[in-house]
Amino acid sequence: MVKMKSWRADQFGNPADVLRLVDIEVPEPPEKCVAVRVASTGIGGPDYLMIKGGYPTVKAPPVSPGQEVVGTVVAAGAGSKFKVGDRVMGQTLYYNGWGGYAEYCLVPDFRTYLAPDWLSDDEAAGFIIPYKTAYAALVTRTELKPGETMLVLGAAGSSGVAAIQLGKHLGARIIAVASSKDKLDFCKSIGADDAINYRTDHVVEQVKALTGGKGVDVVFDPVGGDFAEAMVETLAPQGRFALIGYSSGRWPTIDARQIVLKDCSVVGVQASGRPQAELEESMQAMLEMAKNGSIKLPIGRTFEFDEVPAVIELLKAGPPPGKLILHGTGKSP
Ligand SMILES: NC(=O)c1ccc[n+]([C@@H]2O[C@H](COP(=O)([O-])OP(=O)(O)OC[C@H]3O[C@@H](n4cnc5c(N)ncnc54)[C@H](OP(=O)(O)O)[C@@H]3O)[C@@H](O)[C@H]2O)c1
Repeated sequence: MVKMKSWRADQFGNPADVLRLVDIEVPEPPEKCVAVRVASTGIGGPDYLMIKGGYPTVKAPPVSPGQEVVGTVVAAGAGSKFKVGDRVMGQTLYYNGWGGYAEYCLVPDFRTYLAPDWLSDDEAAGFIIPYKTAYAALVTRTELKPGETMLVLGAAGSSGVAAIQLGKHLGARIIAVASSKDKLDFCKSIGADDAINYRTDHVVEQVKALTGGKGVDVVFDPVGGDFAEAMVETLAPQGRFALIGYSSGRWPTIDARQIVLKDCSVVGVQASGRPQAELEESMQAMLEMAKNGSIKLPIGRTFEFDEVPAVIELLKAGPPPGKLILHGTGKSP
């Protein structure tokens, strides 16, 4: 059996205490799955959350972070539509212990695509989850329209960046919210019309001022907690509040009274739970936009395979702007 190195945690807890580099066997791909030699892995806040415990899709250790990868197929399970040697981008079986912080991982066919040669390893590794999340939230669930205004929380993070870019492409005005001047500048550089620092400014008042008192049509919320709860007040009548995630560590409890009085909607978004045909369609649409330059994944910092502990510390402290990427050991030829 071939051995590989993999970062994993055998119990939930503080990543510095539980995450270890271990030697394990390269997994055999089950039916309609492939084993991939990892070239690059997209890093995201969820990697930290799943090691801590309580992440919705990782119910028991071992925890094997790394939700999305690009790499080369080294073995194809029965019935797979991919073959050995294909360069693929896909969402891993991290929830079964085979994530991308490893030399090899498993990806199921239905969450995997041939990686176009015009996307670099780093761009392909961070593409699928942010953009399909933005598509599900803006196109399918909240139906953001040209001329509407969207408030993007966690705007310099992975899903926030994709929401800014897709929102602009759809013709909306974007107000980004983030924690530092660097992040606000970054959000503007990728298309946000306005940006508010939630650490130094009163976000609700700023939104009211920027929208002439009307408020926003859509709130995109990957943050949750007290902060998201306070943002309900920024909604305009008939506004939509899209619940994406809980980077703050807690899902928000939304004030039903405000929602009813303003005739608004609260919309849950589970991008991976969308019907398969829609996911295929959204992926093709997002790839087309990337090919013609309407969207471009802004790569932030990149890390080498042995730097995982530093990566996790960074996630804990709050990631810098741009998509973070971990280089695997199997760079594409
Ligand atoms: N529903 C879905 O389909 C779906 C898909 C993808 C991700 N998610 C979820 O969405 C969440 C975010 O994922 P991501 O990949 O975008 O994460 P990410 O890249 O780590 O970005 C999260 C952002 O949240 C901000 N943030 C963190 N704590 C905050 C706080 N207390 N108050 C205000 N802002 C805060 C941070 O920016 P600042 O420094 O500016 O605070 C950070 O840039 C996760 O819970 C993830 O599981 C859901």
